[in-house]
Amino acid sequence: MTQRVLTGITTTGTLHLGNFVGAVRPAIAASREPGVESFFFMADYHALIKCDEPDRIEASRLQIAATWLAAGLDTSRVVFYRQSDIPEIPELTWLLTCVTSKGQMNRAHAYKGAVDANVAAGEDPDAGITMGLYSYPILMAADILMFNAHRVPVGKDQVQHIEMARDVAQRFNHLFGRGQDFFVLPEANVEADMALLPGLDGRKMSKSYDNVIPLFEGGAKAMREAVARIVTDSRLPGEPKDADNSHLVTIYDAFATPAQRAAFRAELRAGLGWGEAKQRLVDLIEAEIGPMRERYEALMAHPERIEAILQEGAAKARALAAPLLAQLREAVGLRRFQPLKAAAAPAAKSKPALPVFKQYREADGKFYFKLASAEGQVLLQSQGFEQGREAGQWVARLKREGAAALAEAPVQRGEGVPAEQVAEALAALLAAEQA
Ligand code: TRP
Repeated sequence: MTQRVLTGITTTGTLHLGNFVGAVRPAIAASREPGVESFFFMADYHALIKCDEPDRIEASRLQIAATWLAAGLDTSRVVFYRQSDIPEIPELTWLLTCVTSKGQMNRAHAYKGAVDANVAAGEDPDAGITMGLYSYPILMAADILMFNAHRVPVGKDQVQHIEMARDVAQRFNHLFGRGQDFFVLPEANVEADMALLPGLDGRKMSKSYDNVIPLFEGGAKAMREAVARIVTDSRLPGEPKDADNSHLVTIYDAFATPAQRAAFRAELRAGLGWGEAKQRLVDLIEAEIGPMRERYEALMAHPERIEAILQEGAAKARALAAPLLAQLREAVGLRRFQPLKAAAAPAAKSKPALPVFKQYREADGKFYFKLASAEGQVLLQSQGFEQGREAGQWVARLKREGAAALAEAPVQRGEGVPAEQVAEALAALLAAEQA
């Protein structure tokens, strides 16, 4: 069975070279592995928790989308979307919120850290803390559970969130599943050797240390200027360098082949000057990043292209999210009101009758299908097809994708039939298929 791997990217700020080496590049490489179905999304609802400046929110999600695309994310292979384009996610967040214990949220690191900082500063424990920050882990659980991700690659600081997602998934399955599991229990993938790129001063590269090499921003010039500021020892050209204890070499390694690494070390030991070494580093980085930066700039000049890509991604994501959410609504009791059935037999009660697709040929020689409720009401009526096969393919697709396929399907709703009723009927078929 294919493994679903899901990666969320909080859209605040822009990315630096350390993010590229530690997160973007390995995630894109992993998405190309066979047997993996990858989901990448921009956690822009999460960004709202940390930032109340609309222009910065807008700029960051655009820049980060462009960065991933420019870095080679293949959107024909992966599902790439914005969290805020999937209304099923906040809806699921609420269903999960209602089964999440408050005590567990009290123990969430981000919230606890903020409380501790307030207490240390002699403030009210909850000063400046929003419900967004408090509920952050539940929104994150919804991100993951909505797509039944098996694996979630994250940094160490996020492991607790994945555990919380597992807990809430289990509780929901137990409360409402009646033996059926709605949610896969996700696993955190903490890559032990998650490449940590040192910054200019040798500490971890991070905006908060002001030691970053920008990825695309500021162009090649900014890259060159940052590299020029990498701290080295004061050995002069001609003096042998200690190549194994230089973070400049560590940065070089992140872009070099094994042969290039060995050659660079040998040259440094033989006395290559640091100025010259920095020039080699710039050339090496530029060989990989330069073409990506060109794609980045081309994309940033056409936000509408990025928009179109993300809309496609949202459609793919919703095709999966909508049927699951329909099932969940049903499970918790948010159901449509139906006419009471005349004293149904107990057996019928435990197994509700399903709607059916019917295919047939009319006097005009064309092939048709319709979806009828268990009570015989026509929910969907197709147009006529020249080929019976075409009708069959549409039926198969509607069964497979549920309501998400409706926008494209050549069908009309039965008279007076509301859209939700059709969506529910399709979800019920899907659920029966999966059971
Ligand atoms: N909280 C994650 C971070 O700050 C971002 C994120 C949001 C996420 N939703 C997610 C990561 C779901 C993985 C899965 O890095």
